[in-house]
This record gives sequence, structure tokens and C-alpha cells, in this order.
Amino acid sequence: MIPHETTKPQVNPRKLVLEGRERELYELICSAAYVPEEQNFSDFCQSLKSGRAWLVSGTRGSGKTAFPEALAAACNLTICIVAGRDGLRQEEILYDWDREEQSEWMQEHLRLAKNLAENERENLLERARREKWKRDFLILGEMGLAYDLAAQAAREPETKSPPILLLDESDKFGASIEDSMLMPLERGLVYVPRLQEGFIGITGWEARPIVVTTSNDLRHKLSAPFVSRHVFSRFNTPSLEKELEILQARCPQASTAQLAFAIKLLDAVRGVAGLEDYPSLRESIDVVNAFERDRLVYLDEQVLLRYFCYFVKTSEAQELLKLQLDYLLLAATAFHPVVDLWLAERDSSWKTMLMNSGSVFATERELDLQISHL
Ligand SMILES: Nc1ncnc2c1ncn2[C@@H]1O[C@H](COP(=O)(O)OP(=O)(O)OP(=O)(O)O)[C@@H](O)[C@H]1O
Ligand SMILES: [Mg+2]
Repeated sequence: MIPHETTKPQVNPRKLVLEGRERELYELICSAAYVPEEQNFSDFCQSLKSGRAWLVSGTRGSGKTAFPEALAAACNLTICIVAGRDGLRQEEILYDWDREEQSEWMQEHLRLAKNLAENERENLLERARREKWKRDFLILGEMGLAYDLAAQAAREPETKSPPILLLDESDKFGASIEDSMLMPLERGLVYVPRLQEGFIGITGWEARPIVVTTSNDLRHKLSAPFVSRHVFSRFNTPSLEKELEILQARCPQASTAQLAFAIKLLDAVRGVAGLEDYPSLRESIDVVNAFERDRLVYLDEQVLLRYFCYFVKTSEAQELLKLQLDYLLLAATAFHPVVDLWLAERDSSWKTMLMNSGSVFATERELDLQISHL
């Protein structure tokens, strides 16, 4: 669990959305340097309104894990994280009994009982056996904790917000872990046999944890009952305009030329047929950061090869792309209508450069008209 900052106020995203203030929530998340794709954000709002968990599938590096992290940062929310891996046990996720403390508790009471009269002894031991199963001896796993925190927050709805529960890489959970999550996801409750109160959690949809489940669809196929407890979104590689927006938010110090080189280069790589794996947002952010760190101002073959390590990650791909070096270099430096007009709209010196470069066969008025159509 990563706790929220107790000295700062919390924002309840579900409350914002239920009050019709989706835009405010969108801006808040952007302020944490995460630019959600519109359709995904709309699906997320539906998940908030309905209280259903949100299942996000998509390729690696498409921003699945970063979304709930940005939400936690933007709204100052506690985030509980279950990271998928082989061999994950139910006790780690939901709850476990502290057997050592329970046994010490009983030993202590047996010692006390020795000095008591017989009827008193029986009463004491009976109470001790009952209380052996009280909350104090329960160790909550991340999922149990999230539902418990949500129940606590529901008691002070004006100031407290439910936590986020991130079920990351759920395709690595396996069937038995998925099964153990079905009840909390549907009822909002974790039933604990023998616990005096019987359960942890909260049934009201409006007070439940904000659950985000991610999947790469690689290891196991998720079970139908598990999937059916979610609303679903697919994170695809964003459009070039969206990617530029994201790159600018994530690398605010990068120059316009560095942004232009990086996105044109990666767009060209994504267009090369025969690669097993294509660069995602993770790679484009890494490339822009590298360009910025190295204060890159021009690209030639030597320079380009230096940055291959960020987006070509197998020897077959290296060989294939080295054969395409001329094409990549040309693509990274040539005029690209979507990229260059987007950049020209935000940077007047880029517009002037375009006008003077001879790559745009238009008057300034015509160029402005094109930009305004974006
Ligand atoms: N929309 C976005 N706005 C800002 N940054 C983003 C966005 N999408 C992805 N990123 C950034 O891209 C990088 C990769 O994102 P993340 O780790 O969330 O990917 P993922 O989908 O969880 O990948 P994997 O399946 O490999 O775990 C992170 O640095 C993240 O902050
Ligand atoms: Mg991830």
C-alpha cells in the first residue's frame, strides 16, 4: 500500500463524476503528467459511476499501470497494489491469521486460568477462544486492505475518499486467485470464516474502492466470471496528435525539434513491416528524454544508431532496421503534415522554420488555415 498524504486534502473522483464534473477530473489527471485518451477516460468514468471495476487491456507500455498511479497522485488517494506473478497466494491478497500472536494469546490465558476457580477458568478460556478470532489478529493483504479502507472512508464521506486498488498484470494471477477475487468484486465484501464480524468491506457501490485491473493478455486467459465483473477498455497506441500531447506533458523541457525527430522516427519504425515488436509510448518517452538529455540538435546515421537501443530490442530487429537506416533518417527529418502542423500551432518559430524551409508549398495564410483545421 502507498498511503495518501494525510496533511493534504483528498479529492473523491467518483464524487466529481457523479456531480457531472468529469472535465475537472480529466484536468486533474493531466496535472499529474498523464494525458488520458478520451474514450478510455469516458469508460473509466462509467466504471466510477457504476462502482464496477475497470479492466484495461493493451500492449506493453501503453499506460495501463500509469493511469491509476497518476489518479492516486492527482487526487491524493491511497493505492493498494496486487502485482501479478506465478505462485501468488490468496493469503497475500485477502487476509491471513497471525497464528503466532493467536497462540501467544491462548498461552497467556491458559497461564491466567491456572490460578482461577474452576467455573471462572472455563469462562475465561471460552472468552479467550472466541476472541482469538478478533480483528487484531487478522493480517490484511492488499485487496482486503483496500476494501477495509473503503469501509473506513465511508464513515467520513465528506473528507475521506475510497482508495484505489490496482490489480496489475492480472493475466498472471491464475484461476484460483481470480476466483478468490470474485466475491469482493461483486459484493464489495471479503468473508472471513471465524472472524467475529464475519466480513471486511462495504456493499454500497458508491463507497467501494476504485478498482483498476490491467492485463497484457499474455499468460492466462482471464475467466469469464472475472471479466464479467468489470467494465472494459482497450488501450491502443494513441494517434500521433495524442502521442505528441503526451510527450509534451511528460517531457516539458524537450525542444520542438527533439519532439519532431522522435515522433517521426518512431512513426516510421512502426511502419516497417516484419518487426516482431513495435515501439510503444514507453519507448517514445524514453527517446525524447534521451534526446533532451543529450541536447540533440541534428540527426545523422551515427547519431541515429546511438539511440537504436531505446526502441530496437532484438538482434533480428536491429539487423532489419539497420538496412532501413536511410529511410528512417529521411522520415525523421522530412516534413510530416500531422506532426509539423501540430507543432507549428504551438510554436511560432517552428511555423517560421516550416515557411522558410521550402518543405511547405503554401502561403502563411494557407498554413494558418490548415492548422486551424487540426
Ligand atoms: N497517456 C499517457 N500520458 C502520460 N504518460 C503515459 C501515458 N501512457 C503511458 N505513459 C507513460 O508510458 C510509460 C509506460 O506506461 P505503463 O508502465 O503504464 O505501461 P503499461 O501499459 O502498464 O505497460 P506494461 O504492460 O509493460 O506493464 C510510463 O512512463 C507512463 O507514464
Ligand atoms: Mg504495467
